[in-house]
Amino acid sequence: MSDIVYLNGAFMPLDEARIPVLDRGFIFGDGVYEVVPVYSRHPFRLAEHLRRLQNSLDGIRLANPMDDAAWTRLVGEIIAKNDGDDQSIYLQITRGVARRDHAFPKHVQQTVFMMSSPLTTPPREQVEHGAPAISASDFRWLKCDVKSVSLLGNCLLRQLAVDAGAVETILFRDGKLTEASASNVFVVKNGVLLAPPKDNLVLPGITYDVVLEIARAREFLVEVRSISEAETRDADEIWVTSSTKEVLAITTLDGKPVGDGKPGLLFRRMHALYQDFKREVMRAR
Ligand code: PDD
Repeated sequence: MSDIVYLNGAFMPLDEARIPVLDRGFIFGDGVYEVVPVYSRHPFRLAEHLRRLQNSLDGIRLANPMDDAAWTRLVGEIIAKNDGDDQSIYLQITRGVARRDHAFPKHVQQTVFMMSSPLTTPPREQVEHGAPAISASDFRWLKCDVKSVSLLGNCLLRQLAVDAGAVETILFRDGKLTEASASNVFVVKNGVLLAPPKDNLVLPGITYDVVLEIARAREFLVEVRSISEAETRDADEIWVTSSTKEVLAITTLDGKPVGDGKPGLLFRRMHALYQDFKREVMRAR
């Protein structure tokens, strides 16, 4: 039992799943996606992921092929059909198969695809010692709040990090921090946790929301506001967050130490609180 995927109404082994070459996902990158982490076989924050999926679909004017109850059932089925207690569920909807024309086709069925991968969170070593990041100018489009499968910008930016032996590329646009190639970014300065606002320049991260929720509940000093590049470079701590990275400390930026070059006090608190929060949510089920 492994690598069972869902495609347009049926479950099948991954290597049997096929889509036509005229799928608009393939031709235009015309689709949206979600990545939902699964802990102990339970999807984490599924309702929030489905809400963001709806916003992404609205953002590209594509109808939702299912209601939340149907999505929840399908996500449960794909978890059950795949190995591993901790999984990462990828789901994608494209505008379907049609002769190539930029304008939307009429009366075309969306393509719906879902797969499971093992959830790989950062290794203990990285959590304890932090990880390097580089920076780059954010040249992506102005609808970064849509979780679009058109990820060429993100791929090019992420590869810069890989080429430099770093885990992420932190992005600046017009002198302001936006996010990273596949994660959100937080900054700590003088004991205050700073987060860029959720606008069209960043993906509204589900992990970002969890981190802010925990921070406010534990009375961290929090400011959600635009953060300059200079402030970021002068930060005491930098964190990246995502469904697969959870919360990870960035300890060098472009080869220079962030703060004292070690995961900071607030990071260590937040990382522990995040793990407790996950356990608590799973226990409450
Ligand atoms: N990426 N910003 C970008 C550009 C991202 O691609 C992601 C996640 C995030 C964090 O969002 P969340 O906390 O909801 O995972 C922010 C996923 C994991 C991916 O594309 O694989």
